Amino acid sequence: MDFRRWELLRLMLLINLHLGLLCSANLVLDVKHKFGGRKRGLGELRAHDALRHARLLSAISLPLGGNGLPSEAGLYFAKIGLGTPSQDYYVQVDTGSDILWVNCAGCNKCPTKSDLGVPLKLFDPKGSSTAKIVACDQDFCEATYNGQLPGCKPDLACQYNVVYGDGSSTAGYFVEDAIQLNHVSGNFQTSLTNGSIAFGCGAKQSGTLGSANAATDGILGFGQSNSSMISQLATAGKVKKVFAHCLDSVNGGGIFTIGQVVQPKVNTTPLVPNQQHYNVIMKAIEVGGDVLQLPTDEFDTQDQKGTIIDSGTTLAYLPEEVYDPLISQILAQHKDLKLHTVEDLFQCFQYIGNVDDGFPDVTFHFANSLTLTTYPHDYLFQAGNDLWCLGWMSGGFQTKDGTHSILLGDLVLSNRLVIYDLEKQTIGWTEYNCSSNIKLKDDQSGGTYSVAATNLNAASRPTGGRISVFLLALIALADSFFT
Ligand SMILES: *[C@@H]1O[C@H](CO)[C@@H](O)[C@H](O)[C@H]1NC(C)=O
Ligand SMILES: *[C@@H]1O[C@H](CO)[C@@H](O)[C@H](O)[C@H]1NC(C)=O
Ligand SMILES: *[C@@H]1O[C@H](CO)[C@@H](O)[C@H](O)[C@H]1NC(C)=O
Repeated sequence: MDFRRWELLRLMLLINLHLGLLCSANLVLDVKHKFGGRKRGLGELRAHDALRHARLLSAISLPLGGNGLPSEAGLYFAKIGLGTPSQDYYVQVDTGSDILWVNCAGCNKCPTKSDLGVPLKLFDPKGSSTAKIVACDQDFCEATYNGQLPGCKPDLACQYNVVYGDGSSTAGYFVEDAIQLNHVSGNFQTSLTNGSIAFGCGAKQSGTLGSANAATDGILGFGQSNSSMISQLATAGKVKKVFAHCLDSVNGGGIFTIGQVVQPKVNTTPLVPNQQHYNVIMKAIEVGGDVLQLPTDEFDTQDQKGTIIDSGTTLAYLPEEVYDPLISQILAQHKDLKLHTVEDLFQCFQYIGNVDDGFPDVTFHFANSLTLTTYPHDYLFQAGNDLWCLGWMSGGFQTKDGTHSILLGDLVLSNRLVIYDLEKQTIGWTEYNCSSNIKLKDDQSGGTYSVAATNLNAASRPTGGRISVFLLALIALADSFFT
């Protein structure tokens, strides 16, 4: 078993992301102005596109693969098409970060093989007739960085640098090109639709992003910022700012859609405004029917940034003052169990029998009476014969002001349909069979259509025994360069 990545994650959990200018000269590229010197305002483009596409909001389905099992892939990925002619790329889906980026031709330390069973390929802007390099004085770049980057000269590429929560990083420059997605056009039917978006062209990867271990072509951030794919497509009038995922931890794959879900219905809770991540207000934690007694200020909502919901993280991270009482309550019926630490990180124990019969459910209560119940088979994972480990991790996500937040990853989000309505600023979920289907409204045709689950890697899961944990825990999409 290879738990080293977890270790790395733990050490690096607190690293913030900096979107910033890179200094390496070899990344500077000649660019031609798209509008031949005439500056066209983003507002102008937006107004134009919004008008033109006012009634063309498509429902989109992203084919999904991977699974959230710490003992297997530990991540979910989707297939998208980029460039002209369009080529397929497999990207990890991550609600904890904003931009889409893919490994690019000439990249330093990009993985060439993946044990997820998907073919990897490098995006080559020169090989796409529609690719344009985004210059640092272009609207997208200035909007992404809240102003012009220092040192920006006409014809310098708009660069990016993202450091994820596990310390791995990607750097490169933005290109604008065609993206091809599956438009839901009938029951269990899709047709291809395209748009144009700016995304990162990865020139240099480090840490886990450079290894074949659960490697993907890149990461598709579903954050709220204007630079995310969904924001760009929404600005262009192509989609509603509503997306949903149903991640199947049992069979792998699941459902990932953009557009309004009409079935199943879910209860919702408000998103905490002006946060970098998807944060919600937790009110209480119940273990086997008993409400956990926590320090009274734990869920104080005055200053509280709330609980982070992050599909790019595999496990769940709890501040000590929550972790300790939670674990002692979970193990209360098993005073004889001996916890031992595996690979310095996991709390594990020997147990024979059905864990669902032997351990209590854990229910999180959120504002607006939304609840989320996590079962023993969700929060315990098997690491060997009769060896079970806790998916709850001690130590929350440290925010910039030094306080610790609870961070809930795929461990609790899998096997539920989770709907992010960025227009109404709510998030909601319901327990769901993620191998089945949901119904989506397609505003373009006015129809309501069924969308089935997909499983891109059904035929080739990572081979048994090996713990190929990949943890882009993505925690800290910190501030943009100028804040
Ligand atoms: C989408 O595809 C059509 C037909 O191939 C093409 O004419 C159009 O330019 C493409 N749009 C974008 C944004 O790439
Ligand atoms: C993001 O876009 C919205 C409208 O599309 C705009 O009102 C807002 O100011 C933009 N935010 C930033 C930080 O540029
Ligand atoms: C989930 O849905 C799939 C596809 O409809 C079905 O084959 C499977 O039996 C369902 N699983 C459960 C536990 O109901």
